[in-house]
Amino acid sequence: MSKVLITGGTRGIGRELIEIFASNGFDIATCSRNEKDLNNLVKEIGVTFKNIDFFAYQCDVSKKNDIINFGENVLKNFGIPDLLINNAGIFIPGTISTETDNIFETHINTNIASAYHLTRILLPEMKKNKNGFIFNMCSTASITAYTGSASYCISKFAMLGFSKLLREELKPYGIKVCSVMPGATLTSSWEGTSLPIDRFINSKELADLMYSVYKNSNSMDVEELIIRPLKGDVNENNYNN
Ligand SMILES: NC(=O)c1ccc[n+]([C@@H]2O[C@H](COP(=O)([O-])OP(=O)(O)OC[C@H]3O[C@@H](n4cnc5c(N)ncnc54)[C@H](OP(=O)(O)O)[C@@H]3O)[C@@H](O)[C@H]2O)c1
Repeated sequence: MSKVLITGGTRGIGRELIEIFASNGFDIATCSRNEKDLNNLVKEIGVTFKNIDFFAYQCDVSKKNDIINFGENVLKNFGIPDLLINNAGIFIPGTISTETDNIFETHINTNIASAYHLTRILLPEMKKNKNGFIFNMCSTASITAYTGSASYCISKFAMLGFSKLLREELKPYGIKVCSVMPGATLTSSWEGTSLPIDRFINSKELADLMYSVYKNSNSMDVEELIIRPLKGDVNENNYNN
């Protein structure tokens, strides 16, 4: 049975990834901050997918000690993941000149430092297998300067840099790395939006695409996925496009 670790699995893209991997028989480890959401998730998975091992852990990935403890607990109580999906992330709008203090640090710690620390904990074990796969949740904000999403963009540019470096570093070990760069995807990140549903990527379609890339990568590494809503990019400056 293959094992997948997905950070931030209680909502949005992470929740859809759990659904597709669980329905294909994968054992799954996940984490999030909200204990009640995690307990509900454990119940839902237990009812629907009776034959998989599901490991849920409460932690705040933005805290270095928390994310390291999570990684160590995964190795001890769940096993070495065949697939790591660095998914957990936050989005708080703002501009460089007007963002309140700590917004920058919050984005950096949640969206990039968490992936760096967790990957470092798992890599020594994953390398021994000479096999494996890592998806890093980047964004079109990793390649486009969206004004109004300043610290988010900075953290996602950094995530793409991290992901590219990881790809180079892991070539000799047979571990594939893919940077996933979706545009606006309808999840709780967009709560309260007045935009119509058809301006967004469907999170189930995105999760299914990632599953397909994972399943169909034998002789190749899909290094980057750029996915945009059918009608094109959405940001605060072109809502009506
Ligand atoms: N939605 C989009 O338009 C879009 C586009 C491009 C890229 N992305 C990226 O895709 C990833 C998932 O986004 P999403 O829209 O699915 O987000 P979401 O619906 O807000 O879900 C985020 C998940 O991550 C968890 N999480 C957030 N901060 C955490 C923390 N500090 N510690 C532990 N868990 C944490 C949340 O649970 P708790 O809140 O309970 O912790 C939740 O399970 C993110 O990296 C995001 O930047 C999203």
